[in-house]
Amino acid sequence: MTGAAGRSAPPALDPDTPRYHVTGERNWINDPNGPLHHNGVYHLFFQANVHAPEWGPPSWGHVSSTDLVHWRRHPDALAPEPGRADADGCWSGCARIVDGRPVLYYTGVVGDGDDRVEAVCRATGSADLTAWAKDPDGPLVAGPPDGLDSGYHRDPFLWHDGREWQLILGSGTTSGERHGTVLRYSSHDAATWHYRGEFFAAPREAGGIDLGEHWECPQLLDLGDLTVLLLSCQDPKAPRPLLHTVAYTGRITGGAFHAHGPPHLFDHGDALYAPAAAVDAAGRTLVWGWVQEPLSEHDRARAAKVGALTLPRVVDTDKAGLRVRPAPELEGLRTGLLRSGPVPDPAGARGSVLCPAARQMEIEVAVEQPRGRYGVRVELSPDGTRALTVAVDAGAVTVTGPAPDEGCRAPLDAAGPAALRIYLDGSVVEVFAGDRVALTRRIHTTGPALGAVRAFAAHDGTRMDCSVWRLSATAVDEAPGGAADT
Ligand code: FRU
Repeated sequence: MTGAAGRSAPPALDPDTPRYHVTGERNWINDPNGPLHHNGVYHLFFQANVHAPEWGPPSWGHVSSTDLVHWRRHPDALAPEPGRADADGCWSGCARIVDGRPVLYYTGVVGDGDDRVEAVCRATGSADLTAWAKDPDGPLVAGPPDGLDSGYHRDPFLWHDGREWQLILGSGTTSGERHGTVLRYSSHDAATWHYRGEFFAAPREAGGIDLGEHWECPQLLDLGDLTVLLLSCQDPKAPRPLLHTVAYTGRITGGAFHAHGPPHLFDHGDALYAPAAAVDAAGRTLVWGWVQEPLSEHDRARAAKVGALTLPRVVDTDKAGLRVRPAPELEGLRTGLLRSGPVPDPAGARGSVLCPAARQMEIEVAVEQPRGRYGVRVELSPDGTRALTVAVDAGAVTVTGPAPDEGCRAPLDAAGPAALRIYLDGSVVEVFAGDRVALTRRIHTTGPALGAVRAFAAHDGTRMDCSVWRLSATAVDEAPGGAADT
């Protein structure tokens, strides 16, 4: 990828570094920000700290694509500036077209800890979205409204409801059993904002899910018959504070969101957080998430890049509810078919070898009349002692590895056997089951060599069909000069 704005050569990457997922130019990234499809180009921004492999005052990195497969890097869109409302960070937000011009709404941060002020800031873009001018008059909303105890007042998400602009922010309560809230502002010109109070709140726990002490990055998805509110739940006191993202379905009435029932996990793995949504020219709702990367301090210090964005996911609904599946354009990542067709003898002792494993790989599994457990195993070491296992059994899909006791599980409600789609990219694993549920995990390998890909089934009569493709290792343009691979 181009050293954006004349930066030094790209860092050397290790085999665990994802290649076709969007990563930062170097060092650290977290949330995707402001996805926008404009004039036939998908723009994607993200929280970036190019100075160290850990979170630090973020800038907004920027990549774009015409096909959702090949990405080109641009100079950072936003960076913190001393003396401004974003002096200590340009935190998350969204991108919108307002009166024909691209605009970023973002969280400007000054100070730290209890003294931190989280303001709503704005920057207006050039027609190609590569040059951004911050508002000269300072933030649009200087900080939390009077009377709000919480300092959490961040991650603006805007929409126009046909009458006026609406803006929501993530926040939380500060007394009693703390819980998350979403605040709302409204405006006629998307510049002068009036505080309208709470848009949504829920107790600390709902539907058996811990919803954390406050919410970040609220996203509102208008899916026709259903409105979905995505909330990223944080508990600063938890061992892993960024708990997960939940999806509430419901409707907006009287300026507030009313949930139809308890929330569901948006992703059932242990890595996705802070997803951001955009509607493209075809009317599809696309969502990208941050793939977190839990590394020891030692490993982080040596990593060329930490953090990645998920593949674009199409989110929609059918009679059975919410569906999440990889964008069909991702077929364009395939650079070679490693095997396809029926699997001979999947019920043998260690399953059936499909092909040697590759670092960048897609695996599709279809089954007929399964009885009992079935799935695939990707050996992450030549002897197969470290492995990634994706298995369907008893109404659930599990993604296990690298140790046999490390894993995540998602219930599968839909009737019939679930087809599996598995994307591997270095340490990033994205699993889609039945085009309905997703699990994102990060699984680091240890050595330079991998083993085989195997398919297995508990029952002799199971008819399995598997295709495996090698995927591009250069879809994200890292070449100096900026030529994306085709
Ligand atoms: C979510 C988050 C956002 C914030 C950003 C800062 O991961 O905490 O709420 O704007 O990251 O980088």
